Amino acid sequence: MKNNLCRISGNKLIKINNFGKQPLGNGFLYEKDFADEYFFEMETGFCNESKMFQLLSQPDPNKMFHENYAFYSSTSNKMKDHFKKWSEEIFLSDNFNKNSFVIELGSNDGIFINNFSEKKIKHLGIEPSKNVADVAIKNGNNIITEFFSSRLADSIIKKHGKADYFFSANVMCHIPNILDIAAGIEKCLNTKGILSFEDPYLGDVIKKITYDQIYDEHVFLFSAHSVENLFNKVGMELIKLEPQKTHGGSMRYTLGKKNEHKKDDSVHYYFEEEKNNGVDNLDRMLEFNKDVLKSKYELNKLLKRLKSEKKKIVGYAATSKSTTILNFCDIGPEIIDFICDTTPIKINKFSPGKHIPIKDMDEFSRYKPDYALLFAWNHAEEIFEKEKDYSNKYGNWILFAPEARIL
Ligand code: SAH
Ligand code: TMP
Repeated sequence: MKNNLCRISGNKLIKINNFGKQPLGNGFLYEKDFADEYFFEMETGFCNESKMFQLLSQPDPNKMFHENYAFYSSTSNKMKDHFKKWSEEIFLSDNFNKNSFVIELGSNDGIFINNFSEKKIKHLGIEPSKNVADVAIKNGNNIITEFFSSRLADSIIKKHGKADYFFSANVMCHIPNILDIAAGIEKCLNTKGILSFEDPYLGDVIKKITYDQIYDEHVFLFSAHSVENLFNKVGMELIKLEPQKTHGGSMRYTLGKKNEHKKDDSVHYYFEEEKNNGVDNLDRMLEFNKDVLKSKYELNKLLKRLKSEKKKIVGYAATSKSTTILNFCDIGPEIIDFICDTTPIKINKFSPGKHIPIKDMDEFSRYKPDYALLFAWNHAEEIFEKEKDYSNKYGNWILFAPEARIL
């Protein structure tokens, strides 16, 4: 991005965090590729006009989303349940009927859109990462394997007509040309059409100091203020806000074309909440940076102490988020013996930047580490349930947010 300008208002961004050189969050790699690994300077900024928290620069989307994309949404059963429940809410809503046409942006392996195709509802997924899109296609979903844009919107409308619903989860915050995306969505929707999307919520990130939500793919961290400012530019407005427990605290934003829907009370409520908690406020963002630096210091201190006591420490789940923690806190294989994960495409590779080996879950059970640093803290409930044996008999969990601690 030129001159660190806000992608919504065009104003100069005020710098908030500097995470230094970072590799791709999902750039798990083989040893033969270490020498060619890609790094970029990861800094964040805040715009006082649009209220958008964003990366100053982001790698080219083609580097991140391709035929070997490492994140398969359906690795989490809780997320499968979450999307099923969301689809059930939609089926019951006043705006929905069996002839509704539904579009999903970033449908990945079909975790959400499966719920519509199974019910024979007219649907279309847009997913540029071919390997994950292929899984959804195999399961009977209609998917376009392309990046969404307002140009693609024109060809979708021509071929399929306008949509009643446009959904997306954990995708909008990935897309730098967001004004073009917003314009494309507005075009795709019919007059009463509804946009509903979820993303990690800035209010939760600054409160819980979950700065690992900041990595190459997450170019934005949204709030009610910034989403309203963004979509107002294309003639849309917020009509409902619903906080979610997923990904450590997300917000579901529901929008419609201006003056076409009644606004739910939640819109006023969360605008006031954000003002009270500084989510719209530069000073609060600068305070967040201080919290991040303190959190880094405390995690290093804890891990170094455990290592000096010759404890065996592993990472649990090779999440994209862990890339920020490991590289920013300078934690490598000298501290973490390996990271275990369930995703076949990650196993036997190495973590981006710090090159910690990634192993399968059998290795976790066999190795019996003294400490497991939980990188997938957003799936803690599901993981603690699975790993009762480890917790009860062998070891301890380490969490790093809001502060580094042993459970
Ligand atoms: N919705 C899923 C996947 C989130 S991961 C879930 O919540 O689990 C983000 C996804 O967005 C990836 O599958 C990526 O390929 C896709 N994506 C990134 N840029 C996109 C774009 N411009 N248009 C459509 N999808 C995009
Ligand atoms: P994410 O944080 O980028 O969403 O990635 C979640 C990662 O966590 C993914 O690589 C799969 C892994 N994982 C496990 O290894 N075990 C689990 O029980 C769960 C829920 C996730």
